[in-house]
Amino acid sequence: MIELKNVQKSYPAKRGRGNPLVAVDGVDLTIQDGEFVTVVGPSGCGKTTMLNMLAGFESASQGDILLDGQPVKKPGPERAVVFQQPSLLPWMTVAENIAFGLTLRDGPRNINQDRLAAMVETMGLKGFEAHKPYELSGGMQQRVAIARALITDPRILLMDEPFGALDAQTRSDMQRFLLSLWKKLKPTVFFVTHDVEEAILLADRVLVMTPRPGRVATDMTIDLPRPRKWDLVLGREFNEYKRQILKVLRPEEREPVRLP
Ligand SMILES: Nc1ncnc2c1ncn2[C@@H]1O[C@H](COP(=O)(O)OP(=O)(O)OP(=O)(O)O)[C@@H](O)[C@H]1O
Ligand SMILES: [Mg+2]
Repeated sequence: MIELKNVQKSYPAKRGRGNPLVAVDGVDLTIQDGEFVTVVGPSGCGKTTMLNMLAGFESASQGDILLDGQPVKKPGPERAVVFQQPSLLPWMTVAENIAFGLTLRDGPRNINQDRLAAMVETMGLKGFEAHKPYELSGGMQQRVAIARALITDPRILLMDEPFGALDAQTRSDMQRFLLSLWKKLKPTVFFVTHDVEEAILLADRVLVMTPRPGRVATDMTIDLPRPRKWDLVLGREFNEYKRQILKVLRPEEREPVRLP
């Protein structure tokens, strides 16, 4: 179980001038084991910051972040992260990058080669095993990063707009793959996205954040049957969820855009 209790994160002002920047403020949240939670919110509202704190890359300025009741202090092998930008090791091949977590866990000689080959195949990277990251397209690099996160069957998956850089077809394939993997292994998933449809299609719960400082404006349970088929997005219930989320994200009372 993941718990955030009154979590605040602020960054010091630049060169000590002005006020500190409060990225996330007063977030209370409990995520049960095996839940699929998606997060949407305006750019800069603190989604990545929240994910980084859950990953143990950054600490909260105030409040507590607990994993099974224990404070999160550093990264751990039970949490796998997919970053907003594909972050591969440039000197390693595709296969070595994907196997990175396995190598750390099992030792370089004990890598399950069948599993590695299956992952390469599923991610559409066959034939590119020996390539270096710079020889891949952006979408392919991101698929390597996703494969690297998924191959160790982590208990907790922290994904920061993982499919944002993918074309529509690959994106839809990746969504289906992630859902089938989730159904099989039931990891806890914390998934940040800009795409409201993606957020609903995948999730048990959608968290809608306010503009910075980010708070959870709405915590919406998505009560749609699984498996989720693509045509769900055409249905009345789906669109009702979408309408409610967009209403929170884009309230009418916001200032109209004025061109200079
Ligand atoms: N290391 C840092 N130092 C200073 N400020 C930071 C740092 N990391 C993030 N911020 C600030 O915190 C705020 C939230 O950033 P964050 O990256 O969490 O937003 P986000 O919701 O992920 O946005 P996006 O949707 O564009 O990815 C931003 O104003 C950003 O400038
Ligand atoms: Mg971000």
